[in-house]
Amino acid sequence: MNMKKVVFFETKPWEVDYVNGSLKDFEVEFCEEKLTAENVEKYADAEVISSFIGSTFTSEVLSKLKSLKMIATRSTGYDHIDLDYCKNSNILVSNVPSYGENTVAEHAMALLLSLSRRIPESIDRVRANSFIPEGLTGRDLKGKVMGVLGTGHIGKNMIAYSLAFGMKVLAYDLYPDEKFASEAGFSYAELDYLFAKADVISLHLPYTKETHHVINKEAISKMKKDVVIINTARGGLIETDALFDGLSSGKVGGAGLDVLEEEKFLSEEVVLLHMDNHGEVNFKVALENHMMAHLPNVIITPHNAFNSKEALERIITTTIDNVKCYFGGSCKNLVAHQ
Ligand code: NAI
Repeated sequence: MNMKKVVFFETKPWEVDYVNGSLKDFEVEFCEEKLTAENVEKYADAEVISSFIGSTFTSEVLSKLKSLKMIATRSTGYDHIDLDYCKNSNILVSNVPSYGENTVAEHAMALLLSLSRRIPESIDRVRANSFIPEGLTGRDLKGKVMGVLGTGHIGKNMIAYSLAFGMKVLAYDLYPDEKFASEAGFSYAELDYLFAKADVISLHLPYTKETHHVINKEAISKMKKDVVIINTARGGLIETDALFDGLSSGKVGGAGLDVLEEEKFLSEEVVLLHMDNHGEVNFKVALENHMMAHLPNVIITPHNAFNSKEALERIITTTIDNVKCYFGGSCKNLVAHQ
């Protein structure tokens, strides 16, 4: 009998053991590589594909996966998948909606604390055999205004942590959760008001057409001088050029970024050199990313906010469950369009 084929991309050895023990009734293949336009032909017989966000799910790639019925992304965000193509081709897409609500918010807080207490510079100082604190004066969080954009799973945790640090919180969301706001002790505000009042702005929105460049030149012009911007959501929420200008002019006091526009070209720059068509690459943004990484008031981590031991276990457990439910005929965690 032909077994249903499931292919897991971007896997680590520990994930293989986890999955093998749980999906015994299926033919499961594991690849360390990402799914790409170059290797897709090898996987044309896959009925289910699971990957992280590094894999490519453009219409060009998807059109070559003739047996594909389901994509189980091991992420919350699914902006790397052409959902319209999937919908028209009856390919189901599931995600892991809530593995990292505390994990990602903890990372956002870590970026903020690192900036406000100048931790990376302090560590560099001691490593250079100097134990002198002059020039490393930081800032308190207590009493400052935190502006949170997106009050879903992660944003709510960020709000709780900010309140615990004695910050006042203003939040913005398309669907305000007023009950949570009154219980937790913060208020929702219009975006312009939040921009004008916040000392720190932390982004927890999904990346969509509507949220593309929500932080742009105009938005930054409305913010307080010295505002700190934290982004652990998606690079495309920020217009890099506007942030770079803001940092250069001193309007923006600092940025903690776990995600960047054009980040896929940062991890594999050698790919750039071998690409025939450079049309899709914004070289100005790529260069600004490099320049920002060297600014003392910018901290960049390599899309690492999800990456805690506990979150990784939750991701793989939920993904296995999503795949099992699909084969059992009762899909779980399908993304909103389906
Ligand atoms: P969520 O879906 O629970 O919350 C998103 C919130 O944004 C919702 O409350 C929704 O109403 C609001 N929203 C959506 N569109 C909006 C719009 N146009 N204007 C205003 N509000 C809008 O998502 P969750 O779990 O909090 O994750 C947020 C994002 O964080 C994900 O979409 C993902 O891109 C990113 N993420 C990043 C990770 C990392 O490792 N850096 C890991 C996990 C998630």
